[in-house]
Amino acid sequence: MITFLLNDTAHQVDHIDPQTTVLDYLRDQLGKTGTKEGCASGDCGACTVVIARPVDDDKNPLHYRSVNACITPLGSIHGQQLITVEDLADGAQLHPAQQAMVDEHGSQCGFCTPGFVMSLFAHGKNHSQPDRHEILESLGGNLCRCTGYRPIVDAAVAMYDPDTADTANHGVAGLTDKFSDQAATTAATLRALKNQSASLAMGDRQFFAPTSLDELAALKAAKPDARLVAGGTDLSLEHTQMLKPIETLIHTGRVPELRQLEELPNGLSIGAAVTYSAAMPALVSHWPALTEMLERLGSKQVRNEGTIGGNIGNASPIGDMPPVLLALDATLVLRRERETRQLAVADFFLDYRKTALQEGEFIERVHIPYSSDDTLFRVYKISKRLEDDISAVCGAFAITLKGDHVVEARIGFGGMAAVPKRAAHAEAALRGRTFDESAIEDAISALSEDFAPISDFRASSDYRMITAGNLFKRMYYSRSLPASALQVTEHA
Ligand code: FES
Ligand code: FES
Repeated sequence: MITFLLNDTAHQVDHIDPQTTVLDYLRDQLGKTGTKEGCASGDCGACTVVIARPVDDDKNPLHYRSVNACITPLGSIHGQQLITVEDLADGAQLHPAQQAMVDEHGSQCGFCTPGFVMSLFAHGKNHSQPDRHEILESLGGNLCRCTGYRPIVDAAVAMYDPDTADTANHGVAGLTDKFSDQAATTAATLRALKNQSASLAMGDRQFFAPTSLDELAALKAAKPDARLVAGGTDLSLEHTQMLKPIETLIHTGRVPELRQLEELPNGLSIGAAVTYSAAMPALVSHWPALTEMLERLGSKQVRNEGTIGGNIGNASPIGDMPPVLLALDATLVLRRERETRQLAVADFFLDYRKTALQEGEFIERVHIPYSSDDTLFRVYKISKRLEDDISAVCGAFAITLKGDHVVEARIGFGGMAAVPKRAAHAEAALRGRTFDESAIEDAISALSEDFAPISDFRASSDYRMITAGNLFKRMYYSRSLPASALQVTEHA
């Protein structure tokens, strides 16, 4: 059985297919059809709901995040509060996010509107003042075909009361609304569920949500074919797009050890269930050049649930973080029962969607060593859409220089092979050379020994090869630019 708060009412679910998503549960089981289904793959944001989790902060005891209900496994919301568009109004009074959409004419056909409203709501609960960059980041995962985005962005600004949208809120973040009054009570109720075990079963399908590393390790050893799921941003598509049955799901999101991020003296140690949203501040502070790529990785909803561990474990050749981890020489800690071993990320990807994980083994954490001051680090994501899109090519470069001499070169690419892969020949063409245009041209020429990319609907083989080469030039000519100059200046 799992227990969660549906708005402010405790809600228990027991006998249900463990692959049920939050969206299917809301619409099919509860008849709450305000939350819409557009794509069922985490791409459009029509299904956006908000989940609140208790945190250790007296003034702000709940952390609110927008998620895509269509790919969120129902079992993963145990112990949290689920807020849907039907829950926002206070009696006859619309929530400020709803009222602003009305006032600013932010809706035409209305199909996307509940998702936008929920993204606005999540933004409002996390920000005390409107900030254009953050508004656009919050709305990047919501698509609208009718209204156009300007009135919706206007609504995001208008939902703040200019008289109270300042820092005089005594440390309480975000919009004041009916949820603010209830936050302490809600957090206390949720905390009481913290250690309660959670599982679902129906027929031969099972869902477990262990609460410790030992419990997770024992479960995985006992059920080596079980699939681990954190946010479900990739795995859930096997269910929603391919209707593939998964017998056993083990949710990693309640294992405290896997949710820890530590800034160690020699690098960042990131638990496998740390979400991108949680990891971003530390990643960006150590590698400012990562900012743009991370802001374009999936959408806000995807980053709120998707994890770096999942991005590695699913071994997709077009994941955005693996090329970065290859360039930064990251290492994985893999666990099987009580045994752990370390493995370089470069040795983890064996073939298309095949990894070095052994039976019963799983990723516990990833360690990313800090780059030295003389390392030029750049990462480029090339996709058709700026936001909420999958890379055609992703290239990450870590070039260590002594003066104008290349001491070391580590270059990782996604979208160029069946696995995320280092450009070993191109690296060799740079190593030991003067860092100049001639060395860059030789590295580009060597790329044909590293890669023979496929053509697919994202890009042709030729496009990928030419683009990958051009990224070497972009990296080289950006070598003197500050990180702030690497950002795309405005979202679409
Ligand atoms: Fe499109 Fe969920 S239905 S993101
Ligand atoms: Fe129709 Fe947005 S109002 S899709």
